[in-house]
Amino acid sequence: MAKKIISPGGSLNGVVELPGDKSISHRYAILAALAEGRSTLANYSTAADCASTLECLRRLGVEIKSQGERELSITGAGLSGLKSPRRALDAGNSGSTMRMLAGVLAGQTFTSTITGDSSLRRRPMRRVIEPLREMGAEIKSRDGDLAPLEIRGGKLRAIDYALPVPSAQVKSAILLAGLYADGVTTVREPVRTRDHTELALREFGATVETAKREIRVEGRPKLGARQLAVPGDLSAAIFLMGAALLLPGSALTLHNVGMNPTRAKVLDFLISMGAAVHVASVQSQNGELLGDINVGHAALEGGTVSGEQVAEMIDELPMIAALGPFTEKGIEIRDAQELRVKESDRIAALADGLRRMGAQVEEFPDGLRVEGKSAGKLRGVKVDPKGDHRIAMALAVAALGAEGETAIQDAGCVGVSFPEFFTTLERLRGRAVKGSRG
Ligand code: S3P
Repeated sequence: MAKKIISPGGSLNGVVELPGDKSISHRYAILAALAEGRSTLANYSTAADCASTLECLRRLGVEIKSQGERELSITGAGLSGLKSPRRALDAGNSGSTMRMLAGVLAGQTFTSTITGDSSLRRRPMRRVIEPLREMGAEIKSRDGDLAPLEIRGGKLRAIDYALPVPSAQVKSAILLAGLYADGVTTVREPVRTRDHTELALREFGATVETAKREIRVEGRPKLGARQLAVPGDLSAAIFLMGAALLLPGSALTLHNVGMNPTRAKVLDFLISMGAAVHVASVQSQNGELLGDINVGHAALEGGTVSGEQVAEMIDELPMIAALGPFTEKGIEIRDAQELRVKESDRIAALADGLRRMGAQVEEFPDGLRVEGKSAGKLRGVKVDPKGDHRIAMALAVAALGAEGETAIQDAGCVGVSFPEFFTTLERLRGRAVKGSRG
């Protein structure tokens, strides 16, 4: 497997256009597939996860063509036009693909199976199985909780469902299934999670109402094709921002980055730690906010992420934790037990990787504490990101501030969300990417 060598130091300078947001790309592709007519999606994500969604939609009979760089045309099948797939759908590493498509499959008149790679087949699915069964779908799973999921769809009932765990994927699965129910389906969230599905449903013509933490969608809408552009991915941008914050002399501009308020809490947190982050040219596009981010090197204070902040910063927590050794007071993350059921057990993977590099880390069931600068400098070693893209990128950024070279094993996993990560990082540092096999 490919390994990447990160040498420390240098500075990040320049301007970056990020690939399209992964979460929004999945949703636009799924809704375009269920709409009537031909949609075009510009700046569609280059992530392997989003390619998995397209592949599943193709197996359901949807015609998808790429036209030019990062632009897709999707000819929608209409709500009831999907075809029974001949083989199992493969969601790869993508929890969003599996959980959101489970909602769509629950509304079909055929039986289908959706599976994924070994990481996805270990992740909890009961959270999506239970509400979809309540709506009337028949779902078989491995050991009650795990994929593959065999979903026998049918006529669905509208439900009023309180999510036991905050999850935008589960919320989205129920809202998508709600398109196939008669009447109004309601989802109640314990804390706010990303609202891209609600915004995208409205763009495609569904009736969605939101009040406080309640979301209601009307069943059986007619969805129309749209021309949409996907904002840049803030959850990818965060790794370049982390690198710029660490390296003296850095000054980076990130163009057209998604700033949806349910995602952008991480910027407030960085600013609260003393980071020099400035946002400019904010505009609205297809219901989503986007803008330019300027970020430069800064002395970071450190701090705690807990409570409601966790759901809104969930994908950025690996990067925040890996900044810990470079802060005055360290970083503590609590109430984040969900990190244990992501693409890897992210709490254990971060504790392991950062400790190997010399950081002082205390692990809790619901988070971790990474001591600040006083615990000493990191050193370059060999680290294992456990096949998890965000752990690989977080450790690569920490490696920039270590003494000596760091070898990131299996670094190809970054392709799950940000295939251009290493080349972009090294371009902005004015260096060539170093890697090897083994
Ligand atoms: C996502 C929701 C979050 C997030 C994931 C993408 C989405 O997962 O971690 O990377 O696109 O809805 P959960 O729904 O499991 O919290």
